[in-house]
Amino acid sequence: MRKLIIAGNWKMYKTIGETIELANALKRQLYDLGSETVDIVICPPFTSLSEAAEVVIESNIALGAQDMYWQEEGAFTGEVSAPMLKDAGVKYVIIGHSERRQFFSETNDSVNKKVKAALNHGLIPIMCVGESLKDREAGLTFKVLEDHVTGGLKDLGPEQVEKIIIAYEPVWAIGTGKTATPAQAQEAHKFIRDLVIKLYNKQTGELLRIQYGGSVKPENTKELMGQPDVDGALVGGASLKADSFSSIVKSSSEVKK
Ligand code: PGA
Repeated sequence: MRKLIIAGNWKMYKTIGETIELANALKRQLYDLGSETVDIVICPPFTSLSEAAEVVIESNIALGAQDMYWQEEGAFTGEVSAPMLKDAGVKYVIIGHSERRQFFSETNDSVNKKVKAALNHGLIPIMCVGESLKDREAGLTFKVLEDHVTGGLKDLGPEQVEKIIIAYEPVWAIGTGKTATPAQAQEAHKFIRDLVIKLYNKQTGELLRIQYGGSVKPENTKELMGQPDVDGALVGGASLKADSFSSIVKSSSEVKK
């Protein structure tokens, strides 16, 4: 059985002080949740990663970053590398979020380079894929998913793909309050898993964890997480408050499949 993984994507929110406060509150609210039930990740902005690491060290909460560059070091003004993230105490890294694709010209090619670099440095990539409203309305959902998945995983071996997390995030559901129905999420997740089985093999497809993201809230968590191919959530807005994120994590830990 795949263990659920709930990650909070804090986006460009929270100062260092606010990060420490929220991370401490989460630690208090989630301390008694056994690590066998669900993996918990928070992804604060770069500026507060080290402070967040100090708070969550030796807790059941792991640290993630929201992006990285694929080179180890060099004259790349403004970028942050995988070794730098490791040094700050990071374990997971979100790659290819739709906001990066939309506003910062991220492509399947850059996503692929970042996924490879993350794996080479022992970070676990959370690779985001998902269609826009226009794509969905034009009947292109599966085509876009195939393009994002095959492009992002290019030249990776099965043992590498087994380590990564894919986050299915329909762009029309992000920050809009419009969640995909559990059936829509399940359909997309099953498509992605079947595609990975076709590209690699059955074991790789079955080990791969696929998160759903897009307006996940305490009220819709159980039904979404109960879908057979939904293995967790990437949570934006609702991860910015301790009560709502904890409630999402706790509801997920109660899901029986
Ligand atoms: P949302 O964001 O939960 O606010 O819709 C999800 C995401 O962008 O990862």
